[in-house]
Amino acid sequence: MDSHKLLGLRPAMGWNSWNTFTWDINEQLIRDVADRFVSEGYKDAGYEYIVIDDCWSLKERDSEGNLVHDPIKFPSGIRALADYIHEKGLKFGMYSCVGTHTCAGFPGSFEHEFQDAQLLAEWGVDYLKYDYCFKPRSMSGELLYKRMSLALKNCGRDILFSACNWGEDNVYQWIRESGAHMYRSTGDIQDNWDSIKSLTLSQLDKTCYTGSFCHNDMDMLVVGMYGGSNDGFIGSKIGGCSDNEYKTHFALWCMMGSPLMIGCDIRNANDVTKDILLNPELIKINQDVEGRGAYRIKPEPQWFHSDDVFMLVKVLTDGDLAIGFFNLSDTQREISLQFWDLGLPYASGFSLELYDCWEYKELGKFKERFAPTVPARDCLVVRAKLVK
Ligand code: GAL
Repeated sequence: MDSHKLLGLRPAMGWNSWNTFTWDINEQLIRDVADRFVSEGYKDAGYEYIVIDDCWSLKERDSEGNLVHDPIKFPSGIRALADYIHEKGLKFGMYSCVGTHTCAGFPGSFEHEFQDAQLLAEWGVDYLKYDYCFKPRSMSGELLYKRMSLALKNCGRDILFSACNWGEDNVYQWIRESGAHMYRSTGDIQDNWDSIKSLTLSQLDKTCYTGSFCHNDMDMLVVGMYGGSNDGFIGSKIGGCSDNEYKTHFALWCMMGSPLMIGCDIRNANDVTKDILLNPELIKINQDVEGRGAYRIKPEPQWFHSDDVFMLVKVLTDGDLAIGFFNLSDTQREISLQFWDLGLPYASGFSLELYDCWEYKELGKFKERFAPTVPARDCLVVRAKLVK
């Protein structure tokens, strides 16, 4: 089969420099992350792309109109960094913007789309995150994403196109047709529970707009940051989540089919962070090849629960169901699943055999219903198999 066609088949997995490091990036950091991807098991778990976000270039293009990397941050040059990452069997991503400037004020790709795509290809770039700042008001964002998509698809290299317009301008209605492989559907995540919760709730009625070759990107993961960003907006020392909140965040992104782009400093990740990010059962659900969006079930009795208590169900390729019981509220809840809500009538004679994807253990066989008690800001994720 033509391998071009498979870019973006599954949600991208990788690491992005922005959440923790913002402007403070350099080639040694990126090399260290690549080393850790291999030595700490991220690569084996499926994480692949290492992406430099904003603030990598000089403030001006050169006399030929080319983007120029910052020689202090990247003294060996971008090509050498790409080679280093490729030698480890990983892929390399960079960042630009639809507008005249990036959000941090560096040159954007407006009216340089085809030239920049060419340069990225020459450098060995495999992924482009394409932001939405400084877009001339008279231009349609839709058209500008189509432009860069066309440029990338014809630059001579397979480059995954990651659109980042924060869910503006009804992006759901046109992004798949533009050629982008993933699209940001939300404003920037922050390293706190309120942000995770509000991004999630904003996407619950959009689950039909994700899927293979154009995934709904709910923004980078904040798992393991514990308030450790150098940027006040994303985290600073007042941010940070508890381990359960990070676990729930990861489960939501997995169940909802979001790309999994790590945003913490993996050089200092603790064991809990690694256990969350490397959970093979959750990753399998996220990467399921049919790439179906999850549907939501509101638990009974409905008068008892607010919108922040719900189940998500994802139909998997092999016939199993991934079921997440999410309690985003501040009190413990029993969340009751009636199997008829999954399309399974009692009269069928089938039961569900449930496997707990966090505890890695069988929970047993259930008929008609399953009603776990889920602590506040926590979740249970099971893989359900139909058995007689
Ligand atoms: C924002 C984007 C962030 C990050 C930042 C860089 O617009 O949503 O993820 O890329 O710009 O300036």
